[in-house]
Amino acid sequence: MNVTAPFKLKAFAMADERSERAALAGAVNAMKFEGGRILADNFDGIGLVRDIEINLGLPMSGKRVLMLGAGGAARGALLPFLEARPAELVSANRDVAKAQALAAQVAGRGAVVACGYAELEAMGRFDLVVNATSASLTGDLPPVPPSIFRPEGMAYELAYGKRLTPFLRLARNAGVRNLADGVGMLVEQAAEAFAWWRGVRPDTRPVIDRLTVPLD
Ligand code: ATR
Repeated sequence: MNVTAPFKLKAFAMADERSERAALAGAVNAMKFEGGRILADNFDGIGLVRDIEINLGLPMSGKRVLMLGAGGAARGALLPFLEARPAELVSANRDVAKAQALAAQVAGRGAVVACGYAELEAMGRFDLVVNATSASLTGDLPPVPPSIFRPEGMAYELAYGKRLTPFLRLARNAGVRNLADGVGMLVEQAAEAFAWWRGVRPDTRPVIDRLTVPLD
C-alpha cells in the first residue's frame, strides 16, 4: 500500500522493518506485507531526485543545492540528495536547530551546511532551490531573499496543484524560467513503490502529462 499525509508517521510506527531512508525521514510512504511482517520504505526523496534529474533534466552532481525546510518532507529527501553528489547542499530552516540536527544525522554520508534564513543573503546563488517547507499549503512564503536564485537554475516547489505559489512567484520575479511543482515527484514515488511491490516500473511520462497543471 501507498501511504500519504497525515498517516506517514503512523505507518512508520506500525512497520516491522524500515529502510534506512525511511528511518532517517521518520516517515513511511509505502508498505508491503510479507510472511506476516510489515516492510516499510519511503520513496518521496528518490522520486524527487528522479523528477529533477531525469524528467526536468537537471543532474545535481556538482551543483549548488538549497533545501528550504527541515520537516518530514525535507528529511525524506536528504539522503537521496546527498547520493546525487551536489557540490554543496545547504539546509535552511526557521528553527535552525532542526536543520543542524538533520545535518548531524547524515554527517557520515556527506556534508550538509545548516543555516537560518537570515544567513542566505551572504551565500550567493544556487543552481537548485527546493521549497520543502509547508508554507505554500497556507499561501505563505519562507523568508528567502531573491538573491538565492540563479536565473538559469531551477526553483522546485514540493507542493503540487497549487499553480504559482508565493515561492515560485518570487523565483519567477528573480528571473528563474525553470519552475516546477511536485507533480512529477508524486508520480515518480508511486512508480518506485510499484516497482518495489511488483518488479515492474511503470512509464511515468504519460501520467505526469495527464496530471500537470500549467504554472501561471
Ligand atoms: P512536512 O512533513 O510537510 O515537512 P512538517 O514536518 O510539519 O511538515 O515541517 C514543516 C516545515 O515547514 C518546517 O521546516 C517548518 O519550519 P520550522 O521547523 O522552523 O517550523 C516549515 N515552515 C512551515 N511554515 C513556514 C513558513 N511560513 N516559513 C518558513 N518555513 C515554514
